[in-house]
Amino acid sequence: METTTQRLSLVDKAPETDSFREAVLNGLRKPQKQIPSKFLYDDRGSKLFDRICKQDEYYPTRTEMEIMRTHAEAMADAVGPRARLVEYGSGSSRKIRLLLDHLENLAAYVPVDISRDHLLEAAESLVEAHPDLPIQPLCADYTTPFELPEPPRPPARTVAYYPGSTIGNFPPDEARDFLAHVRTVVGRDGGLLIGVDLKKDVDVLEAAYNDAAGVTAAFNKNLLRRMNRELDATFDLDRFEHLSVWNDEEGCIESFLQSREAQTVTVAGGSIAFAEGETIHTEYSYKYTLEDFAALMQEAGFAVDEVWTDERSYFSVQYCTVRRTVR
Ligand code: AVI
Repeated sequence: METTTQRLSLVDKAPETDSFREAVLNGLRKPQKQIPSKFLYDDRGSKLFDRICKQDEYYPTRTEMEIMRTHAEAMADAVGPRARLVEYGSGSSRKIRLLLDHLENLAAYVPVDISRDHLLEAAESLVEAHPDLPIQPLCADYTTPFELPEPPRPPARTVAYYPGSTIGNFPPDEARDFLAHVRTVVGRDGGLLIGVDLKKDVDVLEAAYNDAAGVTAAFNKNLLRRMNRELDATFDLDRFEHLSVWNDEEGCIESFLQSREAQTVTVAGGSIAFAEGETIHTEYSYKYTLEDFAALMQEAGFAVDEVWTDERSYFSVQYCTVRRTVR
């Protein structure tokens, strides 16, 4: 489907509600109930996530922006002139703005996001600021294969931009498969500019996912609200608690919705029983060392060419290129 606003043509490949329904029904029937974290991002969820990024405890966004600001020129050099930039999970396209003025002669910017309203809003505001930039918004679930829109002119290369350490939301096996897929999208001469959160003090990590203002809790609980709205579910939000804890063995923060009491909830016409204290797993946020991430990239067929970090080494932005020989 194609929606054309005044100056933008949106390619709409958003999945129907069915995929949410299927994922919820499958996930809530598992011994450890779970719902994939990508479903946290309906329009309300995306707005709550934007608010999380402004919380004092949530260091990743601020730190990544600082790294981008400091090294924008070097990053643009690494990307090179006349590139087509494909942003995976572009949200409000805030970080790309730090690069746009430095990128030479961009062939196209393709923001890809599952939240249609969010995507269009962000693309429209970018058009205001960069009237000459060819923007090709694509509404899609970027975790499943998608086709890129025909570029307005042939790019010198395609570079994926994947900021925010969203790669950490995949368990490592899935991260490797996803990155290998990105490699096929960007092709032989392609690149990947990626934000990767690094391992650090547990207190800093846990505070980032348990902000005092309760925005992360609201973001997590929004999943219950979404099930109520889209799947005729009967979740009482007050009977569940938000939980985010560091799993040292796995090297990740894990988020859950924990039932405060024994209860039965209706979801899409079926009954789901919860014991007191039982949890729904809602999100992984893996953290890496630079060495572990380089090894993961190598397995996915990329070589890490450059790494930029902040003073405390909290976060990194890395430029990777497709390896010539993939074993
Ligand atoms: C998008 N992603 C990298 C965020 C993270 O840090 O894992 C999502 C998030 N969940 C809770 N707070 C932020």
